[in-house]
Amino acid sequence: MNKIDILLGLQWGDEGKGKVVDALTPNYDIVARFQGGPNAGHTIEFEGKKFVLHNIPSGVLTPGCVNLIGNGVIIDPHILKDEIENLSKAGFNLRQTLMIANRAHLILPSHRALDAANEKALGKMKVGTTLKGIGPTYTDKTARKGLRIGDIASPDFRNRYESLKQHHLRQMTAVDFDLNGLQLDGVSFYEYEKLWFEGVEYLKQFQFVDGEYFLNEALDNGKKVLAEGAQGSMLDVDFGSYPFVTSSSVIAAGVCSGLGVAPSRIGKVYGIFKAYCTRVGTGPFPTELFDETGETLRQNGHEFGATTGRPRRCGWLDLPALKYAVILSGVTDLMMMKSDVMDEFETIKVATAYRYNGKETKQLPFAACTETMEPVYTELPGWQQKISNGIPEKLESYIKFIENYVGVPIKFVSYGPDRTQNILR
Ligand code: GDP
Ligand code: IMO
Ligand code: MG
Repeated sequence: MNKIDILLGLQWGDEGKGKVVDALTPNYDIVARFQGGPNAGHTIEFEGKKFVLHNIPSGVLTPGCVNLIGNGVIIDPHILKDEIENLSKAGFNLRQTLMIANRAHLILPSHRALDAANEKALGKMKVGTTLKGIGPTYTDKTARKGLRIGDIASPDFRNRYESLKQHHLRQMTAVDFDLNGLQLDGVSFYEYEKLWFEGVEYLKQFQFVDGEYFLNEALDNGKKVLAEGAQGSMLDVDFGSYPFVTSSSVIAAGVCSGLGVAPSRIGKVYGIFKAYCTRVGTGPFPTELFDETGETLRQNGHEFGATTGRPRRCGWLDLPALKYAVILSGVTDLMMMKSDVMDEFETIKVATAYRYNGKETKQLPFAACTETMEPVYTELPGWQQKISNGIPEKLESYIKFIENYVGVPIKFVSYGPDRTQNILR
């Protein structure tokens, strides 16, 4: 019985999932996204070309690979149309290879407006969302009010759209939010609504499937399937630093509900992390650096958001958080990204515990958002050389230190954005 492998981020997102999924795709027949939506920005680089994907799985740049947008994903038809058209201009035609699960929920323009309204109402306590409508769409899904991709063929789709929109407008009035002043990706709400309906029509030419049957049959027939995560474990709605999280189940468990595959069908779990940490948006980040070292990480690592362009907060590797993420998803293989960003560092620090409430602990406390956690660091020597073919001795020591702490082998080391810049261990 074939099993589904999973690749997911272990930090606060942007670990390099897009690059690795693309690099692994030649070993798979199907790549499937299981959660999140266009809040994701997954970058893939090869032959001097660069692609950033938001709603589409990162297997699309490999000829012959089938890509499924799973039921756990939420879709903005305008953003998806834009993405498909851009890929088509670059020579990647997705008509035959892109599948969309009927049960995937739709992000309405008014979900995006509500996202903005909620953030405004929170003021200083805002989450710093990507403003793509993620929270409001998952809220409606759970509240049993949402619209799904499979609904767009229904004759009363427009009525159902209007009634959900009216519900949102009432919520906006309650927080005194003025829709007329809103810009969505540079256009007014009403203009966006038009583009959104064009997106809905456009998507009708693609294959809508019952993803759960499609995937389980594919596995029964010996196909190899990779599930691609979005965001990162520390943004998980249950286990992240709530309420500064996204609204979906980012960990391995999300694959079962986000694609309709049973836990017994899960194979390898690839967990991916950067050799340091970054975070966009608000929320605790114990190892964050506000000094020159933080700025060097940001500049060397080009740490600016792939979706929003925001500068990413940067800091040292946080091992208690990494271990937590590994436990939550049962990670079998680790992949370390962006080690090249620290090539010139003389010394490197890693957090091995937190000082919290006068005690030292290796566990993330429940009250992480309200209490100060001071990291306890171990200092290691930098490798101070470029990585290309082999792994320098001191980088090998850094890797072994992480493996010893976390208890899972690091099998893959990435040292550049190109799909070929990897070393297998
Ligand atoms: P994702 O959301 O997890 O797919 O990651 P993003 O695409 O948002 O951010 C990762 C960024 O790092 C992208 O710009 C990648 O091209 C780049 N990248 C990936 N791996 C490496 C690496 O090993 N070294 C360097 N320098 N850049 C990398
Ligand atoms: P990828 O897949 C990094 C963050 C936002 C915000 C919080 C909630 O590229 O790794 P949301 O719009 O989801 O309601 O925002 O989550 N966030 C991400 N940060 N990478 C991402 O995706 C993210 N998706 C959401 O910045 O703090
Ligand atoms: Mg990203």
